[in-house]
Amino acid sequence: MKSIKKAVFPVAGMGTRFLPATKANPKEMLPVVDKPLIQYAAEEAVAAGVDTLIFVTGRNKRSIEDHFDTAYELEKELEERDKVKMLKVVREILPPEVNCVFIRQSEALGLGHAVLCARPVVGDEPFAVILADDLLTSDDKPILSQMVEVYDFHKCPVLGVQEVPMEDVHQYGIVDAKLSGDRTYDVAGMVEKPSQEDAPSNLAVVGRYILPAKIFDLLETQERGAGNEIQLTDAIARLLSSQRVLAYSFEGKRFDCGSKLGYLQAQVEFALAHEEVSEDFRQYLLSLDLGHALPQMKSASG
Ligand code: UTP
Repeated sequence: MKSIKKAVFPVAGMGTRFLPATKANPKEMLPVVDKPLIQYAAEEAVAAGVDTLIFVTGRNKRSIEDHFDTAYELEKELEERDKVKMLKVVREILPPEVNCVFIRQSEALGLGHAVLCARPVVGDEPFAVILADDLLTSDDKPILSQMVEVYDFHKCPVLGVQEVPMEDVHQYGIVDAKLSGDRTYDVAGMVEKPSQEDAPSNLAVVGRYILPAKIFDLLETQERGAGNEIQLTDAIARLLSSQRVLAYSFEGKRFDCGSKLGYLQAQVEFALAHEEVSEDFRQYLLSLDLGHALPQMKSASG
């Protein structure tokens, strides 16, 4: 039996770094080549054995619901036009046994608050949290599958971590942790968005967590922290007083698609690996005269 069956996808953030693209659409619907970020995240969860996807949505929730819903009219039209391959693509966005649940976060009070909104659906079992704007890839097992294996072995919460440059620690939840096994660390403390001087390490929590239901009790009473938001990091830091928590330095690569640069890097690398466009795109990149591309683009946009 799979140990982690539910995954929470907080998708109610403002996405201010991507305005105006996120004015009418959540940033998790931004595509990388031909798939929205949220679909990569959903596929990662399903590969790890998750059968219930819980989306915590805010304003502009419609497109995410529609994306995972059956699109009768579109299917009918594709059928009529004999577009068999595309019909398969839209029909098989998720396997039929996977359920989607949508919960509203009425106000963007922070990631911790968004996770708390999922409590009625998660209930009393351990669950995963996936931030879809952290797009993770691996040559081997998908990242959440690696983390579930660590969870199954140790039976304690697991945080996905990655080393980041010291000058970037202020953008992340940073762990104070000691290496205790292959790629695993025992977490002794955690701090959200510390300054370089206050950071206990450069091990940053990136958007993957396996958490116990007990975290909800802590989130219920969690006071606002960094950015005046209810922070998941702060609740996990309190969890440490009653529970062993592990950090796992996953095998794979991360694209920070919440930032423009990370998103563009993901586009380039995913396009270079895409079966349909890979070769033509490689040729196009090689043909670019980078020194000239920019002024032309500038004049094109006025
Ligand atoms: P971010 O810190 O990336 O914030 O949220 P954001 O609002 O999405 O983006 P910027 O910084 O304004 O560009 C981390 C994750 O937590 C979710 C976001 O959707 C994202 O997946 N989140 C954040 C919520 O669901 N609710 C919140 O109240 C805050």
